[in-house]
Amino acid sequence: MLPTELIKYKKNSQKIIALTAWDSISGSIAEEANVDIVLVGDSLAMVCLGHKSTLPLTLENIIYHTNAVTRGFKKKIEEQPLVVSDMPFLTYQCGENKAVEYAGKIIQNTFAKAVKLEGAEPEIQRVISRLIRMGIPVMGHIGLTPQSYLNLGLKKQGESLESQAKIKEEASILEKLGCFSIVLEHIPELLAKEIQNNLSIPTIGIGAGNYCDGQVRVTADLLGLNDDQPPFCQPIIKGKNLFKDKLREWVNSERLN
Ligand code: KIV
Repeated sequence: MLPTELIKYKKNSQKIIALTAWDSISGSIAEEANVDIVLVGDSLAMVCLGHKSTLPLTLENIIYHTNAVTRGFKKKIEEQPLVVSDMPFLTYQCGENKAVEYAGKIIQNTFAKAVKLEGAEPEIQRVISRLIRMGIPVMGHIGLTPQSYLNLGLKKQGESLESQAKIKEEASILEKLGCFSIVLEHIPELLAKEIQNNLSIPTIGIGAGNYCDGQVRVTADLLGLNDDQPPFCQPIIKGKNLFKDKLREWVNSERLN
């Protein structure tokens, strides 16, 4: 699927479902679960590489992991989910030229068909506009933006009227710049609903209630593989405990043999 095709989901009121993946096993699981989008998110720095934040992830890391993810795909190319890769911290904050070069490397060296980057400050707007004019589709990401956690923390955004107005304005700017969709992270449900109504491009929510055009989750959170869960993602199974208990059983039984 190409990024431009996502708009038809919104027109047909068909929910968009996205999951993150970081290696070929998680990629194959997401593909076989029939998601529409596989996001190789920079959350892989935490859920796969053991970092405390997303900031240490590099361009080389995202290219390496995006390729691992798509090596796990088994469907015919035209039936595969759209792959979107996050642009890591410092690959788009240092000006338009560097951003085009680094986003270009992601697109050139992987099967990702789009990049996602966080924020909508004037500098980021210029970057997004250049990327899109250079032929690189962009997914926006506003609300809680984990790459800015040193300034903003990891708390819910859009709690005050001022912050709500800012997020609404950012969403409409991102649409005007040509983003093909926008991730809304950890904002009030009614704010997400208003943005969803006002935009013609799809909104994809995480911790933003049920009114977005789509939902994205960090697969490791959904499967309960992490020790720490974000407050807005309830695991559907306690994956870590399940695997740990089963492996302990196996280890103990092997010791007795
Ligand atoms: O990195 C990531 O996994 C993300 C999702 C939280 C949307 O950006």
